[in-house]
Amino acid sequence: MTFRTLDDLDVKGRRVLVRADLNVPMADGKVTDRLRIVRQAPTIRELAEKGAKVIVLSHFDRPKGKVVPSMSLKPLAEPLAEEVGRPVVFADDCTGPKAEAAVAALKNGQVLLLENTRFHKGEEDNDPAMAKQLAALGDIFVNDAFSAAHRAHASTEGVARLLPNAAGRSMQAELTHLEKALGNPQRPLMAVVGGAKVSTKIALLENLVKRVETLMIGGAMDNTFLAAEGIAVGKSLYEADHLETARQVIHMATESGAAILLPRDVVVAKEFKRDAPYRTVPASQVGADEMVLDVGDKSVAEFQNRLMGTRTLVWNGPLGAFETPPFDRGTVAAAQMVASLTRAGQLLSVAGGGDTVAALAHAGVEGDFTYVSTAGGAFLEWLEGKQLPGVEALTAK
Ligand code: 3PG
Ligand code: MG
Repeated sequence: MTFRTLDDLDVKGRRVLVRADLNVPMADGKVTDRLRIVRQAPTIRELAEKGAKVIVLSHFDRPKGKVVPSMSLKPLAEPLAEEVGRPVVFADDCTGPKAEAAVAALKNGQVLLLENTRFHKGEEDNDPAMAKQLAALGDIFVNDAFSAAHRAHASTEGVARLLPNAAGRSMQAELTHLEKALGNPQRPLMAVVGGAKVSTKIALLENLVKRVETLMIGGAMDNTFLAAEGIAVGKSLYEADHLETARQVIHMATESGAAILLPRDVVVAKEFKRDAPYRTVPASQVGADEMVLDVGDKSVAEFQNRLMGTRTLVWNGPLGAFETPPFDRGTVAAAQMVASLTRAGQLLSVAGGGDTVAALAHAGVEGDFTYVSTAGGAFLEWLEGKQLPGVEALTAK
């Protein structure tokens, strides 16, 4: 995969459009998780230090082509300024006279944040007219938003085709680590896939099972795999209409020689609530009135055995109901094993997608993996083996 980086650009005095992803969790007008801002600030800072006029583009939430005041990017200007270490000017629109005037007023080294790109319908339509209006604001386009790269929108894909472009530092780090994890990994390679539903991860499981030596399956989707093998799972959440999908994944593993790790023992309870009474049983002995909420100690030990000989690990999704202790124990123990082997230099570990970052943070190890992606949907599509349009546009000749 070849793409330009900030090292290939001469930005002094140039207007550089930076596509960031400031779609961060907020509550009562305040950012509750700054990770994406922290990751994207270095690109903006570096460009400003090099004397560029930096113009930041982002979407926020899903306003569907209309101006929705509660989805304004304005409250992001201050947190962004704090992380970049420079003032950030805000403009009320991302195209048209307000944006043009704000860009024209920029001096070298200054940073401007434009309003939510999704306030315009042309953004999600990838309307060439919108891409052209955005391109008119800059001389160079830098995409630093891997987490939005699965969207072929005007500010991710369209504009990249109209200006000289490069990957920002965060995009560069994401692509480099993803390549090491799955594109060209050191083997043996193991994938850990957890989460609730097989149905949302069919393409992902089918792609991974062809590429890995070991596929560890956790979370409620385990129940569907167990049920597919004829094991009674009691009251557990499972997808009766995806037993065949689970069998297909197991069949593909046999064909490709991948080992599938399903839990040999499970933590079950009669109620799903915090501190509910529970017991750990062999996977074949779930009571009719019980539900599976976590993987058991023997399963974690088997995971650890496999992990010892593994060189590269990709992780998506928790192994159990980690938000509701004590059903977090399997996820926490497994994550800590990955963290410790990574710290010891024995393992390259990359995690991402949805609940994964929260689960690693809960285990206290999000800083101990080789790389934790800030992407949700984009990470999943990448695990599915899909080309991401925002990345494609950067690597196109
Ligand atoms: C994300 O939060 O995953 C990205 O910002 C993309 O947002 P979207 O799913 O609304 O396109
Ligand atoms: Mg989202």
